[in-house]
Amino acid sequence: MDSPVLARVFRQLFRHHPSCRAHRNLAALSFCIQHGRRQPRRHMASSPRQTVTRGAKPKPKPNESDWQQRTELFSLDMADQYHDYPMVTADDLRRTRSRPRQVKMLMRDFIEDSLYNPHYGYFSKQVVIFSPGEPFDFNSIPNEPSFHAQVGQRYTEFEDKLDAITHDDTRQLWHTPTELFRPYYGEAIARYLMSNYIMSGYPYHDLIIYEMGAGRGTLMLNILDYIRDMEPDIYHRTQYRIIEISPQLADMQANQLLSSAASKGHASKVEIINKSIFDWDVRVPSPCFFLGMEVFDNFAHDAIRYDLNTEQPLQGMVLIDDNGDFHEFYEPELDPVAARYLRVRNAATNGRYPVPYSSSRIIRQLKQARPFAPNLSDPEYIPTRLMQFFDILERYFPAHRLLTSDFHTLPDAVRGMNSPVVQTRYQRRMVPVSTPLVHQGYFDILFPTDFRVMESVYRAITGKLTRVMTHEEYFRDWAYLDDTETRSGENPLLSWYKNASVMVTI
Ligand SMILES: C[S@@+](CC[C@H](N)C(=O)[O-])C[C@H]1O[C@@H](n2cnc3c(N)ncnc32)[C@H](O)[C@@H]1O
Repeated sequence: MDSPVLARVFRQLFRHHPSCRAHRNLAALSFCIQHGRRQPRRHMASSPRQTVTRGAKPKPKPNESDWQQRTELFSLDMADQYHDYPMVTADDLRRTRSRPRQVKMLMRDFIEDSLYNPHYGYFSKQVVIFSPGEPFDFNSIPNEPSFHAQVGQRYTEFEDKLDAITHDDTRQLWHTPTELFRPYYGEAIARYLMSNYIMSGYPYHDLIIYEMGAGRGTLMLNILDYIRDMEPDIYHRTQYRIIEISPQLADMQANQLLSSAASKGHASKVEIINKSIFDWDVRVPSPCFFLGMEVFDNFAHDAIRYDLNTEQPLQGMVLIDDNGDFHEFYEPELDPVAARYLRVRNAATNGRYPVPYSSSRIIRQLKQARPFAPNLSDPEYIPTRLMQFFDILERYFPAHRLLTSDFHTLPDAVRGMNSPVVQTRYQRRMVPVSTPLVHQGYFDILFPTDFRVMESVYRAITGKLTRVMTHEEYFRDWAYLDDTETRSGENPLLSWYKNASVMVTI
């Protein structure tokens, strides 16, 4: 990447976040991997206190609504631009090759565009998923600290090899439990699938597995290897279909299939469909398992703030000015998707869900009496895209059984409730920031999932029953724990990823 672009990234970064610092990445690797796949940093510089001002002096216009500009102290009044700029969506922007200016959009569309725009989005770049090479021989590793050290060493070797081919200061490198614990992670999932298929589908239906977002294709191979070796009768009736948004990763999955004689044998059973799950339009009436491991976290969210006097929700909008700078606004009129999410959540949870403000009116009034106190709550990020994914499951996969794993909490997220971690990697170091409003495409934006609320919403939309458990509980049930035990008796498959949970349809 050329230096002017980098200069621009950091100009954007520090213009918006003077207090953000880069943190060493690999130094903290062993600590960090336990808390999330992408080496989140230990410390996050906090942003300067921001004041929410009401009104921002909108020009009186016939249909003027009482939107609110959320500003840092002394920021520009963008009322006129907010009124005049056209509204765009992430779908509209798919066709544009350069980042938009002089437009406004929902926060959900801004995040979706930043991550998924085919030309400049984060996923259109060379996102690399770490592979440790040979599986770790856990039984010969003395203890967990040694495992940490080995992962760190293999991480460095992996990146050194990539740099020897093409040096890349901005390589985005992830690691997932599928890769770190292969093949044992995939085998545990295969055991779960076998057991449930034999109980409910066999011999009346074939075993059909959909995997959304398959990364390097490792889970697919590990599951198919296991079924072939352990249940040859079922293997003959197995079909494995991947739905993958990234063309590069879809290619890699296809190459993995052809990489060895053993994997080539699976080729006739596998179909790789290179499209976003949100573009899915084929009805699959047959019973099937639907896997989604670490995919929800990148689904775009809307930002909601609440009026602290009335508790009325307002929806976050992003304005991009003629310099490419970002300004945040809050609209009292919710778009139909956000409004529906709030209605479904309310009905599905019987009104019991967390909110980013005190339920006591008196406490809210006392807080607001302080100088410079905001009149809106902190933002809450609501998983509107996740709700739309459940709509797709309900509409196109009526007989599915979902198995999904994701993070229930993420360290050092930006301010707010259910808020994302926003970070990029530069020269093998993480550069964390304190808002999603940063140069589109250079930053990963990943959200935690509130499994309790998500489970209720999924049940309400699909009418299916579910079970939620921690990553550890799931793997205690389905893994052969001897495989991942170190000589000291510690078991990283159980003790890492403490911040992840699993939900299954029952
Ligand atoms: C963090 S990776 C996880 C990969 C794999 N499941 C694993 O555990 O190793 C997320 C995967 O989801 C894919 N993905 C993200 N959004 C998607 C979407 N809307 N539709 C289909 N795939 C998506 C990414 O390209 C990537 O393959």
